[in-house]
Amino acid sequence: MEATFKQKTVYQIYPKSFLDTTGTGLGDLGGIQQKLPYLQHLGIDIIWLTPIYLSPQRDNGYDIANYYEIDPAFGSMSDFEALVNEINKRGMQLIMDMVVNHTSTDHAWFQDVLIRGKSSPYYQFYIWRDGIDGQPPTNWQSKFGGSAWEYVPALDQYYLHLFDVTQADLNWEYGPMREAIYEMMRFWMDKGIAGFRLDVVNLLSKNQQFPNDTLVTPMDDGRKFYTDGPKIHEYLQAMNAAVFSHYPNTFSVGEMSSTTIEQCQRYTNPENNELLMTFNFHHLKVDYPNGAKWAIAPFDFQRLKQLFIQWQLGMQKEQGWNALFWCNHDQPRAISRFGNAKEYPYESATMLATAIHCMQGTPYIYQGEEIGMTNAYFTSIDEYRDVESLNAYATLLARGLTINEALVILQEKSRDNARTPMQWNTDENAGFTKGVPWISVNKNYKTVNVEYLLTQEQSIFTFYQQLIQLRKNNQAISEGIYQPLLVDDSHVYGYKRIFNNEKLVVLCNFFAQSVEIEKRLIDIHAYDISINNYASLESTQTTITLLPYQAVVLQC
Ligand code: GLC
Repeated sequence: MEATFKQKTVYQIYPKSFLDTTGTGLGDLGGIQQKLPYLQHLGIDIIWLTPIYLSPQRDNGYDIANYYEIDPAFGSMSDFEALVNEINKRGMQLIMDMVVNHTSTDHAWFQDVLIRGKSSPYYQFYIWRDGIDGQPPTNWQSKFGGSAWEYVPALDQYYLHLFDVTQADLNWEYGPMREAIYEMMRFWMDKGIAGFRLDVVNLLSKNQQFPNDTLVTPMDDGRKFYTDGPKIHEYLQAMNAAVFSHYPNTFSVGEMSSTTIEQCQRYTNPENNELLMTFNFHHLKVDYPNGAKWAIAPFDFQRLKQLFIQWQLGMQKEQGWNALFWCNHDQPRAISRFGNAKEYPYESATMLATAIHCMQGTPYIYQGEEIGMTNAYFTSIDEYRDVESLNAYATLLARGLTINEALVILQEKSRDNARTPMQWNTDENAGFTKGVPWISVNKNYKTVNVEYLLTQEQSIFTFYQQLIQLRKNNQAISEGIYQPLLVDDSHVYGYKRIFNNEKLVVLCNFFAQSVEIEKRLIDIHAYDISINNYASLESTQTTITLLPYQAVVLQC
C-alpha cells in the first residue's frame, strides 16, 4: 500500500548553506543532488527547498525577482529538472518554497510601475496608498523594523512592505495578479514537484480600511489588520481550485504568522479544500519575555506544554493537521534553546526530537538538526549576514545597549544561528565549500559533523532514523489520537497515542535532573520499550524514573 502523507517526514534544506560543489562559497543544486543518498539513508520522504528563484538575495531568496528562473548562484533550470527527476526516481518528493505575499522590488512588475507609474498594468499588483499629512498611510511596522510603508516620489505614494523595504507586498484584491500567481504555481507543479511551502501565507488579505494600530505592545504593530485577514480563506480556496486540485495528492503547508488554532483548523480541515497543514510559531515564543523577540529569557516549560496540548487537541478536534517542528531557517537552533548542548548534547537533542516526532502531525527536520548542530555564537557583528538581525542590532544599540549586550542577544536569537554551513566533515569549512563560505562555519564542526556521526553505532542521526521508521510502521503515530499525560508535571512532557489496539506512551524529561513518575498517573502496567535515548529505563513496581533529558516511547 502506498504510504499516506501522515507517515512521511520532511527535511528542510537551506540550499545556500547545504553543500557547495563549485567553490563559490554558496551551496548549490548540485550539492543537494550529491547528498540525496544521505537523505535517503536518514529515511526522508519529502524535501523542502527554501527559495531558489532569481533574487537579489536581500532576504536570502524570500525576495523573488523572477518566479520563472532559478538564481544562477544555485544552478540552472536543467540542474533543477535533473534534481526533481532524481528525487522522484528515488521515491522521494520535492516541495518548493513559494513566496506570494510579496516580491522583490527588483521584480519586473514593480520596476514597470516605477517607470510607468499609475498607467502600468502592474500598478495594481502592489499596495499603493497616499500619505497623510506627509506621513505614511498607517503606523504599521515592518516585521524587520521601521515603518511598513515606503514613499516613492515618482508616484507620490507609499507602497506597503510588511518585511524588508525591498519586499513589496502584492495586492491580493486584484484578480489579474492572483491569476498570474496561480499560473506560475502550475508551471512549477508541471515540473514534477509535489507541492509548496507557502511563505507567510496568512498575511495575504489586508483589511482594506487600513486602520492605525495602538502601538502599545510589540503585538500592536498593525498585524491584527492583515493576519488571517478578511478574505484569506477565499484566496486559499481559490488557489486550491486553480492549482492543487489539478494534481494528485498535492502537498501544501502554510507558514502562518501569529495565527490561532481556530484559523488553522479552517486552513487544514480537508472539507475546506485549503491547505494540507500549517506551521504555527506560538511554541517558539516561550522564550520571548513579554512577546519581545530581541531579549533573553529562559524558556517557560509550562507554557510550552500548554501550547503543545492546546494545539494538538484543538487541531485533532476539527480534523486539522499540524506541521511539527523546532527548527527552521528563521529560528535559533533548538538544542541551544531548549536543550543542553554542553552537558547532554545527545540526550537533549534526541529528547527534543522525540517530543515532536511522536505527536499528531507531520514532522520537519531542518538541515543539521539530525546531527545536533548548535547556535553559532558569533562574536562580531561582521559575521552576521541576516537583514533582520542587522536591523535588530542597530535598534538595540540605538536603545542604549552596549555592543556586547547587543551581541549576546544576537547569539541567542539571530536567524543566522540556523544558517551556518552544514557540517559534513572535519575538512576545512566543515566540507561545505572549497571557497570562502558566505557565512562563517560554526567552530564546533570538528566534533559535530555528519562523517563522524555516521561511524557511530548510536548517534543523534541513528535516533532520527528510528523515529522516522517508527512513524512509517506505527499507525498510532501516523493516525492515532492524542491524549495529554502528566499535564501538571514540572519536568516531563508526556502524551499517549492510540489507534485501535495500539497504544503508545511518550515521556520526555526536559531537564538535567532525574524525575520520578508514578505509573498510576500514566495508566501503564506492562510495556515494551520502542524508543529510548538511554540504554535502559529505571522502574519499580509503581514508578518510572527518567534520567536527565531521557525520552522514551513505550508500547503498551
Ligand atoms: C518567512 C520566511 C523568512 C522571510 C519572511 C519574509 O517568515 O521564512 O525567512 O524572511 O517570510 O519572506
